[in-house]
Amino acid sequence: MSTARILVLGGSGFVGRHIVARLVATGWNVVVPTRYRERAKHLILLPTVDVLEADIHDPLALEQLAAGADAAINLVGILNETRRGDFDRTHVELPRKVVAACHAARVPRLLHMSALNAGGKAPSRYLRSKGEGEALVAESDLVWTIFQPSVIFGREDSFLNLFARLEHFLPVIALARADARFQPVYVGDVADAFVRAVDDDRTHRMRYPLCGPKVYTLRELVAYVGELTGHNRPILPLGPALSKLQARVLELLPGKLMSRDNLASMALDSVCDCEFPAVFGSSPTALEAVAPDYLAPAATRSRYSGLRAQGGR
Ligand SMILES: NC(=O)c1ccc[n+]([C@@H]2O[C@H](COP(=O)([O-])OP(=O)(O)OC[C@H]3O[C@@H](n4cnc5c(N)ncnc54)[C@H](OP(=O)(O)O)[C@@H]3O)[C@@H](O)[C@H]2O)c1
Repeated sequence: MSTARILVLGGSGFVGRHIVARLVATGWNVVVPTRYRERAKHLILLPTVDVLEADIHDPLALEQLAAGADAAINLVGILNETRRGDFDRTHVELPRKVVAACHAARVPRLLHMSALNAGGKAPSRYLRSKGEGEALVAESDLVWTIFQPSVIFGREDSFLNLFARLEHFLPVIALARADARFQPVYVGDVADAFVRAVDDDRTHRMRYPLCGPKVYTLRELVAYVGELTGHNRPILPLGPALSKLQARVLELLPGKLMSRDNLASMALDSVCDCEFPAVFGSSPTALEAVAPDYLAPAATRSRYSGLRAQGGR
């Protein structure tokens, strides 16, 4: 068993839990700082994981966490701001501190999570701040790899599960940007890519867009979720003015289901113009192979698994 040690910032989240589980399975000792230990309790049972409550925005605390690590992964990200400036603090200032802490603690390898379409000219502050963070990492002399996924699906996702909840409660789904296109990628494939990249020198200083095998409009995704959950609601596409109004109202409500910045992100299709990177081996998992397992009620689930078995999957 290797005694290599890796620091995973954001390891307690949806993507993080899958990466951490795979790192443990491949023999890594993993350090996961969190703001609230309670939120990371699903990781505490894993044998070689150290979950620590820490303020990773404090440069000294970050350097101490990095000390002795062979590699670091930064997954920390937010989809919405609680306070103005949160995007910059989380997606720009934190990566800057992570790069500095890696230098100071002599951690040579950094894997960084960005997002598809991140960049200075992107239409949303989320994507622009992600682009700035990426640039900081890429300008460093660390041995970096950057990942840019489309929307990620899996049992604990907040995308398909959100529509499942809405379709459960609402008679009609009023949908902004119904024609926006997405190429959802499975969380297991994203996690595999990170873990394979850690010690594969072909991935050094490379950026990888990550997408699944198929492109869907938002409307098709919402209809598919309705079909799986048994709450197949009529979908009412909203024009630009009503979409903006809806986002404005929703961002004021608790839980912030949607914001004007989220809406702006959808002005760009979240699709890849290349195949899933061959360096990560396997081809990406289809949405239809996984989503029924966590969205469909039990009876439908067994029907889908029967169909999958017949289809040899
Ligand atoms: N999910 C997607 O569809 C998707 C698509 C493209 C890119 N991404 C990117 O992938 C990364 C992981 O996404 P996810 O879905 O796993 O997110 P998530 O479930 O919300 O997890 C976010 C993680 O970041 C940490 N975090 C959030 N805000 C923080 C702050 N202010 N200070 C310190 N830690 C903070 C959280 O740690 P604690 O709460 O434990 O402190 C948590 O571990 C993000 O960078 C996201 O932008 C996600």
